[in-house]
Formats: sequence, structure tokens, C-alpha cells
Amino acid sequence: MLILYAAFHGVSRTLIRVSTPGKVTLFGEHAVVYGEPAIATAIDRRVRVEAERRGDDLIRIEAKDLTLAGFKALLSPNGSITLEGESKKVLAAISYVKRAVELIQEKYSVKRGAHIVITSEMPVGAGLGTSAAVAVSVVKAYSLLAGIELNKDECAELGYNVELSVQGIASRMDSTTVAVGGILYIDPKAEKTYEGIACRRGFEGLVVGYTNREASTGEMVERVKRFRDDVPEIVTPLINVIGEVARKARTYIEAGDFQRIGALMNINQGLLEAIGVSTSKLSQMVYAARCAGALGSKITGAGGGGCIIALAPGKEYEVMAALRAIGVSAFRASPTSDGIKVEEG
Ligand code: PMV
Repeated sequence: MLILYAAFHGVSRTLIRVSTPGKVTLFGEHAVVYGEPAIATAIDRRVRVEAERRGDDLIRIEAKDLTLAGFKALLSPNGSITLEGESKKVLAAISYVKRAVELIQEKYSVKRGAHIVITSEMPVGAGLGTSAAVAVSVVKAYSLLAGIELNKDECAELGYNVELSVQGIASRMDSTTVAVGGILYIDPKAEKTYEGIACRRGFEGLVVGYTNREASTGEMVERVKRFRDDVPEIVTPLINVIGEVARKARTYIEAGDFQRIGALMNINQGLLEAIGVSTSKLSQMVYAARCAGALGSKITGAGGGGCIIALAPGKEYEVMAALRAIGVSAFRASPTSDGIKVEEG
């Protein structure tokens, strides 16, 4: 019985370290929720999760860099507590961890106590796929702790289920990109839902600008849904055009045609503005980047605050300076082919 268990579940360990990259969406956020294609790339900043076996069956979660500078909360008459503003991110991070652990426990009938520590090299809840990275990392680390070996696709699928239950609506874009790594063409309606894109010239020159985000991904997705339900004859064609932009962008990325990729990013931004997910700060960032020499710039992720990306090969420092001059933080990002990884040692 013991041998059979070990053969099926592998040999379980007591300390597991997993890291997963963040991601930026080059094309197609929001539209991907309605089945349109999108293009996203894993980036060279990672979320790290450490899971250590406990002697009991309790789960203890520690999020080291989610510091809480005060909090805003709403107490409703039914006794429920809702955290607001920046404080919400802490609750959100805990919800992704909790659901990831529950899914593994339910699916594989295991119950192991664990101390789970999360750190992030990038801002959380800002459009860089950190929720997905936390979800797939915890799925991988907790399952390994229980002696279960899941491959990248399985981690992506379970990570997607975590996002779906926490957010209510989600696409597979984030969980697939962070688990698999590389630049991916995500096509929810195709038989092969994702494919790697090879860029002829190497995809360099990306800058990320970050401003605070108040609204969560779930809230922004819900806002677009309401807008679409209200005026489908207007919003549906906008969503379809976002899909067309992503289809065309794939050929330009393969060819390494940065001018045209930039032009399509700007069109994508216009469409995101039209469906109502930009803010005045995000638009200011987008234009600051373009004025400093970016070939294209747009929101990445759900919007309502958070991050923008700019494509500025050879002008990265000018674009970062322009973003910092308007009071937002900025950093360079490079695509990485490294998806989820178990760190040895
Ligand atoms: O802001 P993020 O990184 O959570 O990205 C959300 C992307 C959406 O397309 C808006 C939602 C989704 O699940 O694809």
C-alpha cells in the first residue's frame, strides 16, 4: 500500500520552493473573456511561494511584501466585513491561496497542514498576472508537498479554476501564460488554446509603468460585462475588433515588425478606452510614454488603474524617465521562456 502510494503520488517532501513569472498582456485583455484571441508574455519578474509541511493540518499564510499601511473596511448590517482600497489586495491574495489549497485538497483527497510564504518581485493586483502566479505557484507547491506531480498545463488549469472561483469571471490567459512561459497566442475557441510565438528579432524594449489600482480584476471584468449587456450592438463590435487586432499583431510579432506592433498597441488602447477601462492617470501614462519615444503603449490587464506597457526599443530610459516625471514607478521588462519552476535547494 505504501509502495503503491509512493508510486502514484511520488515521494513527498517537507519544504517546496516554487517561482512563477508575472506577465503582461500585449493584446486582447477583456476581449479574451468573450472568446477573442489575446497575446501575452511571461516577464522576468517572479512571484515566489514557499510551502513547508506543518505537524498539524492547519494552513498558515504569510505574504511578506503585502504591507498594510492602515486599512479601509466596510461593515455591512449582515455582519460581513469588506476591505476596501489597497487593503483589498491582502484579502484577495489570501483568497487565491485559500482556494488553491482547497482545490488540491478536494481533487486529490489530501489534507496536509502547511506554512505558505509568498513574496513578489512586482506590484500585486496591478495587471501583471500576480493573482494567477500566486494561484499556480500554490497549486504546484501544495500538491508537491502532498507528493503529487502536476505538469505545467495541469497547474495552469487548476490556477484558472482558482481565478474563476475568486473573481467570478476569468479567462485562461493569465494562468496559462505564467505557468507555461514565453510569448503566447491564446485562442479560447481554437482546439489548441495556446501556442508559443517566436519573434524573429527577439522581443525587447518593453517598459512597465505602475500606478495604484483601486478596482479589482473581477470588478473591471464585471463593469465591461454590464456595459456590453447594456449596449451590445456597440460593445460587441469593439470586442471583436480587439480580437482582430490580436490576430494581426501575431504576424507582426513573428516578423519582428516593431513599428506595426506599436501602431496596433495604440489601436488596442483606443478600444480599451472605448469599453471604459482606462482612467485619466492611465491615459496620461500612455501618452507620456508615447511622447518620450515609445512606438506604442497601452494598459496591460484589467485597467481601472494598475499598469501600462510601452514598446520602446532603444528609448527605454527616456520612457522610464517620462513616467517617473509624472509620479509613477517604471521598470524594464523582458519576455522570459521560464514558466513555473520548482527551485532546488
Ligand atoms: O489585471 P489582470 O492581470 O488580472 O488581467 C486581467 C485580464 C482580463 O482579460 C481583463 C481578465 C481575464 O481573466 O482574462
